Amino acid sequence: MAQLHHFSILKVSLLVLIALTYVSGKSFRTTKLGARNIFLRTTVDNESTTNSEEYEVYNYTQTLDHFNFKTESYTTFQQRYVVNSKYWGGPTNNSPIFLYAGAESDIMGDVQYGGFEHVLASRFNALLVYIEHRYYGTSMPFGSKDKAYKNADTLGYFSSEQALADYAQTILDVKKKMSAENCPVIVIGGSYGGMLASWFRLKYPHIAYGALASSAPILYFSGLTPENGYSSVVSKDFKSISTSCYKTIRESWFEIDRVALQPHGLAHLSRAFNTCLPLNTTHELKYSLELLYDVMAQYDNPTDNNIQTFCKATDGAGEKTYILDKILSGLATIYGDRCHDVFDPSISKDFGWDWQSCTEMVMPMGNGEDDTMFQADPFDLDKYSKKCEQAFGVTPRPYWAPIEFGGYDIKTVLEKFASNIIFSNGLRDPYSSGGVLQNISDTVVAVYTQEDRVVSGWQIVSKIATLELTMVRVIYILGHHCLDVEAPTATDPDWLVAQRDTEIKIIEGWLSKYTVPNAS
Ligand SMILES: *[C@@H]1O[C@H](CO)[C@@H](O)[C@H](O)[C@H]1NC(C)=O
Ligand SMILES: *[C@@H]1O[C@H](CO)[C@@H](O)[C@H](O)[C@H]1NC(C)=O
Ligand SMILES: *[C@@H]1O[C@H](CO)[C@@H](O)[C@H](O)[C@H]1NC(C)=O
Ligand SMILES: *[C@@H]1O[C@H](CO)[C@@H](O)[C@H](O)[C@H]1NC(C)=O
Repeated sequence: MAQLHHFSILKVSLLVLIALTYVSGKSFRTTKLGARNIFLRTTVDNESTTNSEEYEVYNYTQTLDHFNFKTESYTTFQQRYVVNSKYWGGPTNNSPIFLYAGAESDIMGDVQYGGFEHVLASRFNALLVYIEHRYYGTSMPFGSKDKAYKNADTLGYFSSEQALADYAQTILDVKKKMSAENCPVIVIGGSYGGMLASWFRLKYPHIAYGALASSAPILYFSGLTPENGYSSVVSKDFKSISTSCYKTIRESWFEIDRVALQPHGLAHLSRAFNTCLPLNTTHELKYSLELLYDVMAQYDNPTDNNIQTFCKATDGAGEKTYILDKILSGLATIYGDRCHDVFDPSISKDFGWDWQSCTEMVMPMGNGEDDTMFQADPFDLDKYSKKCEQAFGVTPRPYWAPIEFGGYDIKTVLEKFASNIIFSNGLRDPYSSGGVLQNISDTVVAVYTQEDRVVSGWQIVSKIATLELTMVRVIYILGHHCLDVEAPTATDPDWLVAQRDTEIKIIEGWLSKYTVPNAS
């Protein structure tokens, strides 16, 4: 942890890119979901890049609406999926199939980058099947994105329930084509894809034999997780690196407000922060900074140490330095001399996750008074709903996901009927606040990224100066969003290697108990 790494030029532009790409309201912070750290990835090492000769891309002719029998429901569209048989042991010895649940992006990004699923496939001689989520990538109903995203009538078939049903139909078809009907399917996914993976196992236990759900905030719904869960973890991440940095950020919002009220205050802030466009409101600046801190925390991986770099700069500016200058020193580590992109958060009609957040994936996120390093900004369902109505003409159903997928009293409920699910999390990931962090049964387990270090040292323990070797257990909270399902690298810390090994052993245990259906 001691070594500091600085943002490379590429990193800088990518960090800005995420801030730019994910232009959504604060309430729509879930747009930062994302299975893999694609946006902050600096070095795409060759090991983790999949050679295009290793996989085949196909389409499955998919049913538009699985849930009613109106004429229009029988319309079909082309759903993309990718098969990699490099590691496949073939159907005869029931080698497993790992189904990678596509999430809110083009599936080819996941296929080409290639992550932990390759390790699993190699270890278990498995077939890898990636299925793209409907309304993302090329898997567009109605023939094109423009048509699919036209209005609420065409977007109406865009839901997680339809996506799960798509995966069920597609994987059964793939199994049939490959004569692999007897092979067990294990679903794997990260972030929203992790939510889908765990829900798929719960809804389709006859199709999926197990699930690895990485950083899946299945409990970030109304009444299940405190709304400040996300921001609290971001705040803790900063505090754990530097209390003074945390305080600087905590106080900076009020200073921004104070300066803005001065004559020409906004113009002054625009100049000071070197914003690419003149600020119209302080909200634009504050929102952009908050999003930046959020992303730094969510993807604070062991080699990049985003927060450490930022805080070293704010703290290094000196205690007597003016507070906004401290922040600017931190920002300089990210932006360098380039201007600072700020924007007004708004819902985008072309952004699939915004549609999902405006319908069933309503994750209430807000901050209370003095409970995070951010200013108070409680989740306001009415305001949220109005924005959705304006953008899409739909009213969100925040109560629906927990009715459809459960979540209340999850331990008691899942203990009785569920099995074979790994909920993995990195505890420095703000989304872990809505994840499953307790072991529910022998086979529905929570695996964290954390490290238990035993720190030893000599200590004087009595008046007659007896030296004694003391051992102290210190638990370090570690791991960012979806870290475990990224491709392993040579520089991975021991705790991460150990976590992946635990996951492999658990899956090995499931597979050793697998019995072929209809076998006598
Ligand atoms: C990665 O691949 C590129 C092109 O295929 C090659 O030029 C480069 O040397 C490789 N890098 C490493 C670290 O193997
Ligand atoms: C799959 O369908 C899409 C959309 O219709 C099309 O552009 C693409 O060429 C098809 N791919 C294959 C492999 O058939
Ligand atoms: C300020 O408002 C103008 C006009 O609506 C807009 O074009 C511009 O992007 C806004 N500035 C920022 C920083 O968002
Ligand atoms: C849950 O069980 C797994 C497997 O036995 C174990 O590795 C893990 O540490 C347990 N998690 C918690 C939170 O106790």
